[in-house]
Amino acid sequence: MVSLFGKKSSGWIGIDIGSSSVKLVSMSSSGSQRQIDAYAIVPLPPTAVIDGNIEEVSVVSSAIQRGLKICGGKYTAAVVSVPSSAVITKKMQVSNLFVGIELEEQVRIEADQFIPYPLEEVSLDFEVIGPVKKDHNFNEILLVACRKANAESREDAVTSAGVKCEVVDVDIYAMERLLPLIDQVMDNKLIAIVDVGASTLSLNVFQNQEVVYNREQAFGGNDLSQAINQQHGMSMEEVDLALRENSLSQEILDGMVVPFTNTVIQQVSRALQFFYSSGVHGQLSKVYLCGGASNLPDLAHKASDELDMACEVLNPFKNCSVNRKLNAENSAAIVLF
Ligand SMILES: Nc1ncnc2c1ncn2[C@@H]1O[C@H](COP(=O)(O)OP(=O)(O)OP(=O)(O)O)[C@@H](O)[C@H]1O
Ligand SMILES: [Mg+2]
Repeated sequence: MVSLFGKKSSGWIGIDIGSSSVKLVSMSSSGSQRQIDAYAIVPLPPTAVIDGNIEEVSVVSSAIQRGLKICGGKYTAAVVSVPSSAVITKKMQVSNLFVGIELEEQVRIEADQFIPYPLEEVSLDFEVIGPVKKDHNFNEILLVACRKANAESREDAVTSAGVKCEVVDVDIYAMERLLPLIDQVMDNKLIAIVDVGASTLSLNVFQNQEVVYNREQAFGGNDLSQAINQQHGMSMEEVDLALRENSLSQEILDGMVVPFTNTVIQQVSRALQFFYSSGVHGQLSKVYLCGGASNLPDLAHKASDELDMACEVLNPFKNCSVNRKLNAENSAAIVLF
């Protein structure tokens, strides 16, 4: 689990493989200042990625290749992520006498007890978080397990596009690392990030920069694009482009986009109800909205009113500068997750 932002960025590119598009971003850093150097969004056909699984590796790979061309640089290494729904995570305690290969073996032995698949079918990774507070003879270990097929299909798509896939991260851990860059991490404050993508809405809640709750619902901007496609005869790609460029007719905006904004808010409200009914956590102090559908006109403002809670569209590049060769307005519109 490596932070893209912590790496020497030259030659590295981050790739988000979503169900509607592949997004690429390349960044560099000088001291604590981060800069966006290049980005691209390449649409995917609806059959390429379904429920977070890559169904058509060659199609995704071609899209990545196109994206790399648009970005224009010389990229040797890529970072991708798997959705949190595809991973099993577990915190466990292991004696600190185990180090190196012995620790790896011990983790595999313990992992075998709770992973419901044969270990040969699973990619495992772990991180030593630190000594257990009550017993310093043990280390707390965070274990992440993912079906090999999920990780390998991403690696295959990236490698066939001509870049080495150096890191397979988990989307919620990328969000965890993003949080201190966009918000003040304060003791016990609960912050939600709601990703409204094309086909999935996910609610992720963080406390002290750690994910404490995560849930997905089958809902997303596709519902709007499909409705416009059926009623106005525009292709899904045309609709998505028109939404991004804000070039839909007033009739479609008033008759379909505005009502859909209310549907999104209802879905967010439903997700929050599930969170609160889980009972173990307190009140959220802020909801960040991200994903393509978070760009719906006035969504954050309306959501704040309806949900009676501070809502804001998340800009992961809030404190980043933009390479002078790039159009600053476009860059601010990229939504990574
Ligand atoms: N300006 C906009 N206004 C409204 N909707 C938009 C806008 N821009 C993009 N969208 C919608 O956002 C969706 C794409 O979002 P995103 O790129 O986050 O999805 P994804 O990552 O491909 O999908 P998922 O995360 O569900 O797998 C599409 O349904 C698109 O119509
Ligand atoms: Mg997405």
